[in-house]
Amino acid sequence: MTALGLVQVIQQQPYAVAISRSPWLFPFFETVHVLALTLVVGSVAMMDLRLLGVGHRDRRVSELMGSMLPWTWSAFAVAATCGLLLFSSRAVTYYENIPFRIKMCCLGLAALNMLIFHAIIERDIATWDEGTPPLGARVAGGLSLLLWITIVATGRWIGFTT
Ligand code: HEM
Repeated sequence: MTALGLVQVIQQQPYAVAISRSPWLFPFFETVHVLALTLVVGSVAMMDLRLLGVGHRDRRVSELMGSMLPWTWSAFAVAATCGLLLFSSRAVTYYENIPFRIKMCCLGLAALNMLIFHAIIERDIATWDEGTPPLGARVAGGLSLLLWITIVATGRWIGFTT
């Protein structure tokens, strides 16, 4: 099955048809999507600013991450679930939409950047947990901030191009 064939099947699912025909389901899921993503992007931005050495300098990086990450992951689960429901209602339109494709690519790159940070850069965090982090951590923080700003901007742009 082609990717286009798959999104056509998704769009014909009963829940997807129900969301597309309902006067309130799409706005409801989009509202929850926006509320959840503000918590995702807000908590990620706090951690990235700490990695850049410009925010929360009085807190150890590991302590800040320990208190933020549970919020980030819970809010991400809610944002992604609502995003998939919104997507299903007009799957073919979104699949062919350039801002949507850029947003999904940036989500993938943000995940890759996070994986490299946690798997490699964070390994010797004990040597830089207080004060200004090393270059690798600052680059990871800066890249993450740039990617999440792009995700929000392209997410907003979708509505103007569909
Ligand atoms: C946490 C990560 C995400 C962020 C930060 C994000 C951000 C956004 C933003 C800012 C909007 C515009 C909301 C508005 O203006 O009302 C949006 C809309 C949308 N997002 Fe996401 N999103 C995320 C994850 C996802 C995922 C995983 C999907 C689906 C696979 C998705 C699908 C959509 C769709 C379909 C819309 C509606 C576009 C429209 O107005 O027609 N999002 N997103």
